[in-house]
Amino acid sequence: MANPDKPKAGRGVMRWVDERFPATRMWQEHLSRYYAPKNFNFWYFFGSLAMLVLVNQLLTGLWLTMSFNPSAEGAFASVEYIMRDVEWGWLIRYMHSTGASAFFVVVYLHMFRGLLYGSYKAPRELVWVFGMALYLALMAEAFMGYLLPWGQMSYWGAQVIISLFSAIPGIGPDLAQWIRGDYLISGITLNRFFALHVVALPIVILALVVLHIIALHEVGSNNPDGIEIKDKKDEQGKPLDGIPFHPYYVVKDLVGVAVFLFVFCAVLFYFPEGGGYFLETPNFEPANPMQTPDHIAPVWYFTPFYAILRAINFSLFGLDAKFLGVMCMGAAIALLFVLPWLDRSAVRSIRYKGWCSRLMLTLFAISFVVLGVLGVLPPTAERTALAQLCAVLYFAFFLLMPFYSRWEKTKPVPERVTGR
Ligand code: HEM
Repeated sequence: MANPDKPKAGRGVMRWVDERFPATRMWQEHLSRYYAPKNFNFWYFFGSLAMLVLVNQLLTGLWLTMSFNPSAEGAFASVEYIMRDVEWGWLIRYMHSTGASAFFVVVYLHMFRGLLYGSYKAPRELVWVFGMALYLALMAEAFMGYLLPWGQMSYWGAQVIISLFSAIPGIGPDLAQWIRGDYLISGITLNRFFALHVVALPIVILALVVLHIIALHEVGSNNPDGIEIKDKKDEQGKPLDGIPFHPYYVVKDLVGVAVFLFVFCAVLFYFPEGGGYFLETPNFEPANPMQTPDHIAPVWYFTPFYAILRAINFSLFGLDAKFLGVMCMGAAIALLFVLPWLDRSAVRSIRYKGWCSRLMLTLFAISFVVLGVLGVLPPTAERTALAQLCAVLYFAFFLLMPFYSRWEKTKPVPERVTGR
């Protein structure tokens, strides 16, 4: 039998590297000796898939940049040139534009897993907070990227969102002008959004992913039972309910990758514009500052928050409706940040929480989806009333959590993971 300690050709090189850089130690700490709970289920695919989609966005973005012209005069035409004349340009462009929607599908499912299993609770608060910072950075990245093709929706979508800042009393109008760099959205805005989209934000996102993973590996992964696997170890100090991430979860995640790629390619080749939801129809016309499209709506992944903004059509305490709407939209995101401190439950996973937590999470998920649908549709009196109801349910989930999570009766948590 081969002696694993005997130095091989590769070992010599590795030893040389290890004496200068902790390559083997990092491999072991983060993969081959990172013990992850053995009961990971379907919901645990989305972290590695988020990394896959991030790599897709970075690579396809890099290639798009090679042929893209970041100017008001040339941007729209350069995207058409990529689609028609650059070899495989259509594929690279669709991989990037459909990839943006895929990113949000994956990240929303990834976040929902956190809600289901209480992965945000101590000691994983920082994992969650870094995750939320990632979510904010992703929203900024997607928003700025959407202006770049300089289509009608790029232009008017940015116009609507940036003008929201002008609702802030006092500094608002100056702030909006500072963001645009001009009195109107112009080539100057396009230039700065391009710089932020291709350089600044990708660096921030990559740095946050590293922080997210370091924080996770410091405390260890949660699991569908919400049990701390570090509490039960064998005589060698390995968690009884843990398995090394490599090779077990590397292989398992590859199955998730294969399934994801099937679905992603099906959308990419047969449905790349997502029926006008991934690339909106007005964006096939060049930006025209003199003509507003019939109906302006952000891309689907922003619409839950946009629907909350529109639902506030009344003024309160002397604050006008627009500013109140902006505040509610901001609060809807801010509450997600502080979630770890709102949940006072004695247990982590929804499996062992009481009926009230289950009901509130279900209502929250339904209202988020309904708000998302309402946000893409033009408002009517009935739709606004429904959006108001959903906004109340959305906020109730967070604001009542300190009470219902503490007072409800929880189920007994098993000693060891259940393997479901
Ligand atoms: C670029 C975006 C993101 C990437 C690449 C990413 C990546 C990952 C990876 C690889 C893991 C470990 C595997 C897993 O548990 O699934 C993880 C865990 C986690 N992520 Fe993210 N993530 C991202 C965004 C987010 C966001 C937006 C949140 C929530 C606000 C979040 C919250 C968490 C939590 C709470 C865990 C620990 C889950 C557990 O142990 O049960 N992540 N993330």
